[in-house]
Amino acid sequence: MVKVLKDKCILVGVSGGIAAYKAAELVRQLIAQEARPQVVMTRSATEFIGPLTLETLSGTPVRTALFGPAAVPLEHISLGQQVDALVLAPATANLIGKLAAGIGDDLLTTIVLAATRPVLICPAMNVKMYDNPIVQDNLGRLRQAGFHVLSPAAGALACGAAGWGRLPDPVDIVEELAVLLTPQDLQGCEIMVTAGPTHEDFDPVRFLTNRSTGKMGYALARVARRRGARVRLVSGPSALPSPAGVERLMVRTALEMQEMVMEHFPHTDVVLMAAAVSDYRPASFVGTKIKRGGEEMILRLSHNPDILAELGKQKTRQILVGFAAETDDLQTHARDKLKGKNLDLIVANEVNRADSGFAVDTNEVTLIHRDGQVIPLPLLPKEEVADRVLDWVATVWPGNRAERIHG
Ligand code: CTP
Repeated sequence: MVKVLKDKCILVGVSGGIAAYKAAELVRQLIAQEARPQVVMTRSATEFIGPLTLETLSGTPVRTALFGPAAVPLEHISLGQQVDALVLAPATANLIGKLAAGIGDDLLTTIVLAATRPVLICPAMNVKMYDNPIVQDNLGRLRQAGFHVLSPAAGALACGAAGWGRLPDPVDIVEELAVLLTPQDLQGCEIMVTAGPTHEDFDPVRFLTNRSTGKMGYALARVARRRGARVRLVSGPSALPSPAGVERLMVRTALEMQEMVMEHFPHTDVVLMAAAVSDYRPASFVGTKIKRGGEEMILRLSHNPDILAELGKQKTRQILVGFAAETDDLQTHARDKLKGKNLDLIVANEVNRADSGFAVDTNEVTLIHRDGQVIPLPLLPKEEVADRVLDWVATVWPGNRAERIHG
């Protein structure tokens, strides 16, 4: 992740549920993002996980007491105002109920009631408890009061039941915090990102493809969503997990990608075409596995449609961003594609280096604008490249209004 949380002070409120042990991983993730976590635990949370664990991981004394020698005077008021954001993970039905009723009877509840910074509530409990209309009402009240609620994940629960109620993966919680602390300059923008390779089958077990893994496209989808856009990710086969808060539509072939992209194009504001679409597909598909023969095999290929060029012809108000994967003559080829496909921006990408292009986490690209402007970027993590591309999108997207940005 781009270090959105770097130097941010995050209050981690831990209440007493079995998922309290996952707070340790959350604190580790925050430290990995160079954030400064301050842990506050309820008394029952300390029954599930020792404060020493969280104290060691966060490098800061854990707060538990409202009264007594361990209490710091007035901290129950000041902490929620001094930090950059608060996250309650796990938030039990009890904690949620108390906050919804305005009850402050321990350090954590008093801090949250007096907080002036964004609060992210991460409910985690038994599915029946989570489905209880009283708990749902309480969450609704908290949402209305401006709290952010991250829906629990589904899966096996500690009690043996299955369903909604699991604490989301700490990586997803950290991503939600990043959303809360990122200016929402793309709020209201409908962005379609394509990513990954395509697979072009020639028999039931074999296909043609390329070295793309989807990393650049997935980074664009994550960062666009973090900046407030509504993101649809049309992905070719990829092992990467679906980015949180993004609608992912999986496709396999170039023809499937074309159909999906065309279906959603009319209500899209911006297309970021990072997919490495196969230019050819086998001219015919053999329904049974092709057996090894005595002679050499010749595979006939047909042209796939150029999806981006088609969008270039059909575009009305849409902003089109293409990616040029090149091994030589980078700028000349990229400029030809910008013009030939009627794009607004092309990201010229040298793909024959070990640290840039396919299957790595960094990329060195040059942005070439329709108006002729050329911006070479240094070697950067792919999320940072995504941020630079989206900085440009934010300047040209007509829906971007400065007053939407919050700090
Ligand atoms: N693209 C596409 N449909 C294709 C091929 C490419 O939409 N059939 C898009 C890619 O997603 C990328 C841009 O066009 O955004 C440029 O892709 P690239 O593979 O670099 O170039 P091609 O146009 O395929 O040309 P060539 O392979 O000859 O370099």
